[in-house]
Amino acid sequence: MQVVKYMFQPHGDDRGQLVALEEFKDIPFKIKRVYYMYDTAEGVTRGYHAHKSLEQILICIHGSCKIRLDNGTEKKIVPLEKPYEGLYVSNVMWREMFDFSPDAVLMVLASELYDESDYIRDYDEFLEFVNSNKEA
Ligand code: TYD
Repeated sequence: MQVVKYMFQPHGDDRGQLVALEEFKDIPFKIKRVYYMYDTAEGVTRGYHAHKSLEQILICIHGSCKIRLDNGTEKKIVPLEKPYEGLYVSNVMWREMFDFSPDAVLMVLASELYDESDYIRDYDEFLEFVNSNKEA
């Protein structure tokens, strides 16, 4: 499994840093939704789902966390700890987010509006979806 990480260009000067993200330039899709997680309780793992078609970029803009990616055959753990790095998460990818630092803010840029019917929340269903896609 290939882990795709984007290193964004910080515009730094003696005032500090600034990162700007534009759709189709820094981000490979049209950004239709942004959401973020913060105040994540200690020891919590979130996610436990995949999407049928949604693509996302995850950016830990403050603090740190880890992302477990699973494409149905391979698993990878990716630490996110810099505000200028983004992890691309394709569709049909099971994800779990964990090991949040108390100050972590995990921001997600998403290619579609919120749509519960795009979620696969059962792991066995996810494996079935992966296999049926392979056969197609
Ligand atoms: P949830 O899917 O449980 O988060 P995760 O699986 O990423 O840990 O989402 C938590 C709540 O927020 C749930 O009630 C649905 C709601 N929600 C929205 O209303 N819009 C959104 O874009 C997202 C991602 C979640």
